[in-house]
Formats: sequence, structure tokens, C-alpha cells
Amino acid sequence: MVVELTKGVYWVGVIDWAIRKFHGQELSTHRGSSYNAYLITDEKTVLVDTVWGPFHDQLIKNIGEVVDPAKIDIVVANHAEVDHSGSLPAVMRHAPKATVVVSQRGKESVEGHFHQPWDFKVVKTGDKINIGKNDLVFVEAPMLHWPDSMFTYLTGKNILMPNDAFGQHYATAFRFNDQVDQEELYEEALKYYANILTPFSSLVLKKIDEVLSLNLAVDMIAPSHGVIWREDPLQIVKKYQQWAKQEPENSAVIIYDTMWEGTRLMAEAIGHGLMTAGIPYKAFHVAVSDRNDVITEVFKARAIIVGSPTFNQGVLPTIAPVLEDLKGLKFQNKIGAAFGSYGWSGESVKIIEEHLSNCKSQLVAAGVRAKWQQEPDDLAKCRELGQKIAQAI
Ligand code: FEO
Repeated sequence: MVVELTKGVYWVGVIDWAIRKFHGQELSTHRGSSYNAYLITDEKTVLVDTVWGPFHDQLIKNIGEVVDPAKIDIVVANHAEVDHSGSLPAVMRHAPKATVVVSQRGKESVEGHFHQPWDFKVVKTGDKINIGKNDLVFVEAPMLHWPDSMFTYLTGKNILMPNDAFGQHYATAFRFNDQVDQEELYEEALKYYANILTPFSSLVLKKIDEVLSLNLAVDMIAPSHGVIWREDPLQIVKKYQQWAKQEPENSAVIIYDTMWEGTRLMAEAIGHGLMTAGIPYKAFHVAVSDRNDVITEVFKARAIIVGSPTFNQGVLPTIAPVLEDLKGLKFQNKIGAAFGSYGWSGESVKIIEEHLSNCKSQLVAAGVRAKWQQEPDDLAKCRELGQKIAQAI
């Protein structure tokens, strides 16, 4: 259903209630998502972003409820990832003379995806396009979260359309932040930040400072996923400023896998040590946990404690994706430690410690290894490890 945000500006996107995995199978989306596209009817007709390709019919139908799609003069492609550009071919079939407005890197990426001789207009930060009563103003936002990413601002209506930034994978019946459950909204906004934007945190801070220094009035922030921030729209900007500093809570996350319960018992003993020292923790058996939810908890916590039995002279394969995420997401201000049971060679703890060091997590205590089934002394060492980590926190 089309929603008018303000006179002459319409949400014409799609709610995807069913999607449970995004980026292929990489990112869990327990609450679905939306692909937000915005139609502006001024003297010129403008579409800002499209929707994922499988939903192109719905997009064209939505546009048609407001205006004949053939009347579109300008399509802004803020970002070429196909959840936003996937319906460009369908839109351009209806409006073949429309100009496609992109950043320089966006042109490369859109051309690379679609191989079409569309009429491109490349814009850079500060460029304006007059569309009648109002202007579109562009701000390049490279690495937020792709090199091509760009924000579009609509003067007169004071709407910032920052594409992926400030978004959430959150399917909802209503379109605005003040109409939805606030806990759910912030859970999804944080999960999105932690899993997608964490490695670009320093750029997030700089970009926010740059946009704020323009002194633009902002009545709405309309991202490309989830709800539109209209009630106190800068609240999500302030949250991003806080999250981008990566100042974790005084808490710990224990991440482990286990074959015959030995490493699980060690995880619980470490948790006991943390708890008796007054530090809250969450423990995740990764083989049965959602990786992206675990990463969200890692984002919040100061300490990451990773455990695996030794398996084929390495760690259990289920641990590897989390270790890869710790590396790729470039978490800051973390401390860490490792643990694990073993039967013969016992390399897992050393491997995890090396990995944590490479991820710039400061090792604050020697890891604990336990051979065969744990003895009381092994579990006592685990409790001590928990206490040492608690002191370091
Ligand atoms: Fe980077 Fe929502 O795509």
C-alpha cells in the first residue's frame, strides 16, 4: 500500500514479511524486511531507489497508483546492491528516457550489474538537481556500506534518504518509527549496525559530522529498509554516534561448540567465575545459535571468550564462521580468552588465541585446556579464568 509521507512524497516500496535470510544465506532477518523506494512528484517526477528484482511488479503497480510510471524523469540509485537496484530494469522499461543519477562508483556498479546504455548523470557531494519547487542534494557516503553508497536530501520537505544507513530489517504494518514497538525497532537497528556497519564505524562518525555541519533541517530520515524516522528523527543519528564509538558494556559473551559436553562444562564454569565476580554474561553454543544474533551480543560486550575442542588438529568447523566475523567486522575495545577440551594433540586453544590476537582482541589471561573429561581442578581453572576476565573488564 502506497503511503504519502508528506505532500508530494510517497513510499512506494515493498514489505517482505517472509524473508528470513538476507545476502543469500548470510544474514538472518527474523522479522522480515522492507525495500523502501520513494516517489517525489514535483515539476519533475523522481524515484529514489527501487526494490529487489523479484518484487518489481509490485513497485511498478505502487508507482502507478500515484503517477504513470512513464512520467518518471529521474531515478536516483543511491546504492547498486540489488536489493535496491534490482528493479531498475523494470522501471527503465517503463521510463526509458529517465536519467539515472548515481555516484561515480555507483555508475560503475550499476553498469556492471545491468549492462544497459541508460542516460547516467554522475553526482558528487554538494551537487544539486532542481526538480521544480525543491532540490535534490547529494552526499557521497563511500563505505556506508559500499564504495558507491550515497545519500539524497530533498529540500523543502527536509527528508534525508540515506539508503542503507539508519535502516533495519524489520517488516511492519506501519511505516513510521512512532507506530511500532520501540524495543523491536532498536533490536533490529542494532543488529543491522553490528552485523553490517561495525567495520566502518570511524567513517560513520565522520559522515555524521559532515552531514550535521551542513545544518540541513531534517524532518524525516527515510532509509531503504525498515521504518522511517519521523518522530525525533535525529534519535537514530545519536544512536549511531554512540554505537560507532564501540564503547562496550561491562559484560562478556562466551561462544563455544562442544562434542561430548566437555567444552560446554568449561563454558559454564567460566560463566560461574564471571558471575561470582559480578559480571553478566551470555553463553552461546554456536552450533545451535544464530550467528548474527551472536555477533550482536559480541558487539555489546567487552569480553569475548571462545571455546572449542580440538578437532582434526584445529577448531570445530562451526566455530570458524564466528572467528571470520570477528576478523571481518573489526571490533574494537574487546578483550578475549580461549578454552577447550582435547584428547590427543590439543591445538584449539592456541589457534583461537592467535585468531583473537589477529582481531586485536587483547588476551587478558592464558587460555585453559582440559584433557579428556574434566577433573575438578580443570573446572576450577575455568572459574579462575572467568574471574580474571571479570577483573580485566
Ligand atoms: Fe547494501 Fe540494502 O543493500
